[in-house]
Amino acid sequence: MKNDNVLLGIDLGTSSVKSILMDATGSILGIAREEYEIYAPAIARAEQHPETWWQATCRSIRAVLSNAKVAPSAIAGAGFSGQMHGTVLLDKDQQLLRPAIIWADQRSASQVDRVMAHLGIEQMAKLTCNRLAAGFMAATLLWLRENEPESISRARISLLPKDYIRFRMTGELATDYSDASSTLLFDVRSRQWSQQLLELLDLPAKLLPEIYEAAEVVGEITGEAASETGLRKGTPVVAGGGDQPVAAFGNGIIDDGSVLLTIGTGGQLFTPLSSIAYDPELRTHTFCHCVRQKWFLMGAMLSAGLSLNWFRQHFCAANQVVDFEDLSNRAAQVSPGAESLFFLPYLLGERTPWMDADARGAFIGLSLRHTLNHLSRAILEGVTFAMRDSLEIFKSLGVKTSSVVVSGGGSGSAVWRQIIADIFGCQVIRANVSEQAAVGAAMLAGLGCGIYENPEAACHRIVTYDNAVDPIPGNVDFYNQMYQIFKELYPALKNRFREMAHVRSSSSQ
Ligand code: XUL
Repeated sequence: MKNDNVLLGIDLGTSSVKSILMDATGSILGIAREEYEIYAPAIARAEQHPETWWQATCRSIRAVLSNAKVAPSAIAGAGFSGQMHGTVLLDKDQQLLRPAIIWADQRSASQVDRVMAHLGIEQMAKLTCNRLAAGFMAATLLWLRENEPESISRARISLLPKDYIRFRMTGELATDYSDASSTLLFDVRSRQWSQQLLELLDLPAKLLPEIYEAAEVVGEITGEAASETGLRKGTPVVAGGGDQPVAAFGNGIIDDGSVLLTIGTGGQLFTPLSSIAYDPELRTHTFCHCVRQKWFLMGAMLSAGLSLNWFRQHFCAANQVVDFEDLSNRAAQVSPGAESLFFLPYLLGERTPWMDADARGAFIGLSLRHTLNHLSRAILEGVTFAMRDSLEIFKSLGVKTSSVVVSGGGSGSAVWRQIIADIFGCQVIRANVSEQAAVGAAMLAGLGCGIYENPEAACHRIVTYDNAVDPIPGNVDFYNQMYQIFKELYPALKNRFREMAHVRSSSSQ
């Protein structure tokens, strides 16, 4: 079949880059993935080399062109989804000054504490609608100024990860509204860099690139990039966006009241907004969506699928539990509530709702009756209760929803989908789209090239839902009672977690 409306979506993730080619109806013609590592040059650090990203991106584009047997001339445009928050510094000759400091990097924790203590929640809410977190560009730039002043003084531009890849493809320095929001140097209300915050933090505005809509064409493939990637010189390239909003777009999540729950390593609850709303305690993020004139609320938890992986890897070998499916089958053999066993999934500390790096995981309520099956179920339920904390914040801000779209590796488990329906008290559905972030990136390219009239038309053409799971009324009531207990467990332990952190740091000195 001849096809000249092929779209290229590039998803620059944390562990790999994926390139997909799809036609305008959303049929995936080919996919290629190239992995890379996170370097931890010291404790609490997470870096990646942008040149490694670029080489991996070139290989993945070449591979997808060849495995999909698509001629470069058939590609109408390219778009991006990218890991958010991170920092890439270039000098006056547009050369890399140092490795990228990515979103998972925690070295700027003390800068974050100082900024939050100095400005306070109210002023941060006024300036950005968000709380600063370690690994976000604003915090990283402050750390660099104190610890590597030479990198900051030689820096001419500070880019987010996917923006560096677009720069290598087109020679243009730019970002988009969704990723700009994730730096925390951005005023999401007026949709521009926050001059006020930049002044308060004494950071130079000239380090920041121009901002575009995610679906806006910002450049075209240069001759050099054409020879490195195999793409046609002159292929239009759109700005693209942050991975969470772009994956939401790939799941069809663009209207108020639609909610996406992603269960990957971490877990995110996401809902679009057509007017600004934010949690006054700043426990959730309010960022610009990758769709024009929309925002989104997002609750982010750190150990969702990770909790299950941790448990399977370290405690299940003797019981022949080899994969996630085995574990979820075991969970299915136990009734809701796992005989009053709770799991707190704070293995890495927690972002939403507690914003506490010292929080830790726990099984609470263990008895002699509990087996591996109970512990497995308690983990699925504990992660879901923790995501319900975000849902409760959404509801307190007026979000009304009758169904939740689930995605990510965890959504493959039918048991978990039923638990989500029962704990959230609403229908759970899944999109027919796989690789939603890369598909969302290709959809942005299609919008930019005029293949889709608007975001609604793109979603309508590509995304359908199936696998509906309805809540079981008896379970909903039961889980509501359990949730009342769950939500009191962290507050009861909070001060003990802080003391434990203190003991840890004194014992490691
Ligand atoms: C979003 C977040 C992650 C990163 C990496 O707030 O931290 O989704 O974008 O994927």
